[in-house]
Amino acid sequence: SAAEKGGYDYFMLKEIAEQPKAVSDTLLGRIDGAGQLHLDEIRIPPRVLREADKVVIVACGTAYHAGMIAKYAIEHWTRVPCETELASEFRYRDPILDSRTLVIAISQSGETMDTLMALRHAREQGARVLAICNTNGSTIPRESDAVLYTHAGPEVAVASTKAFLTQLVACYLVALYLGQVRGTKWGDEIQSVIGQLARIGDEVEAVLDTMEPVRELARSLADRDTVLFLGRHVGFPVALEGALKLKELAYMHAEGFAAGELKHGPIALIEKGVPVVVVVPSPRGRSVLHDKIVSNIQEVRARGALTIVIAEEGDTVVEPYADHLVRVPVTPTLLQPLVATVPLQVFACELATARGNEVDQPRNLAKSVTVE
Ligand code: G6P
Repeated sequence: SAAEKGGYDYFMLKEIAEQPKAVSDTLLGRIDGAGQLHLDEIRIPPRVLREADKVVIVACGTAYHAGMIAKYAIEHWTRVPCETELASEFRYRDPILDSRTLVIAISQSGETMDTLMALRHAREQGARVLAICNTNGSTIPRESDAVLYTHAGPEVAVASTKAFLTQLVACYLVALYLGQVRGTKWGDEIQSVIGQLARIGDEVEAVLDTMEPVRELARSLADRDTVLFLGRHVGFPVALEGALKLKELAYMHAEGFAAGELKHGPIALIEKGVPVVVVVPSPRGRSVLHDKIVSNIQEVRARGALTIVIAEEGDTVVEPYADHLVRVPVTPTLLQPLVATVPLQVFACELATARGNEVDQPRNLAKSVTVE
């Protein structure tokens, strides 16, 4: 009903708008005023976390994209090797796991069959399983050793939005916590990122406040056949998520690529007028990432692409190459997906609506895939 949608036309719009609160709820009680992490819910003994020699993340769909981003964060802050794998692939091969493996299963619903089977498989090999889940008392957390709930509130729209952002927050919390428990040379950075994570709700709000040009752009592209997405580092999974949203909602051909792979195939798809969304990392910090992606934008634009550039406030270098420029707040490199994904959600939702699609119930899709 209209009341359930809180005045919005669709649950998806409501859930996009709820993201600042959702991410703050994920953080609630988990970072104190002194910047200390409180994650006692992770009832896996610190000794086990210190001795873990590998992290394996399993998930499906949008949750898998959160897991891909988590890999960058976990390896950076903990120096423990981490792999992220689609649950449906993981469970049917012969993965190497033992009691020193920490498995993280990410699932909004807690009922996705492939993710559940992957975690059962992992536990049979002696691995510890931590669930990151949004649904209290669902099967995946019940069968895991520990659970970190995302507290996003119920997500009704089939295409995941607030659940994704809160999964990211939960993943960062786990990565930072593991980094602290294990003690790495990144102690100062971890402390400063915790402070920035604590304020991320305001940054997400700031993005939502500036989305009108993105909606306008989406409407202008409603009759296109293809949209391509490019990203590097944590921007790569963001590109994949942007493309997934567009497939799910707009039923368009949408593909995400690692920008470094452009020359290995995708550049052949570029022709005059093809929209290419580029997720640009911060020019601060690891500026080599930024230089590389600026070259990629120039390469596609020289071949006629319509460039839609998502870049940090104050990044003037990209301006000459952007047909459309979408600004996101300054964040630490690893946290950028929390702000960079939001315009892509709005873009897909608006484009789908302009095409006359039912955004809350896209054709052929289910909110939770409980069958194989
Ligand atoms: C379905 C939903 C997606 C979701 C995926 C994984 O495909 O349509 O939005 O990302 O399942 O769901 P889960 O509940 O495990 O996060």
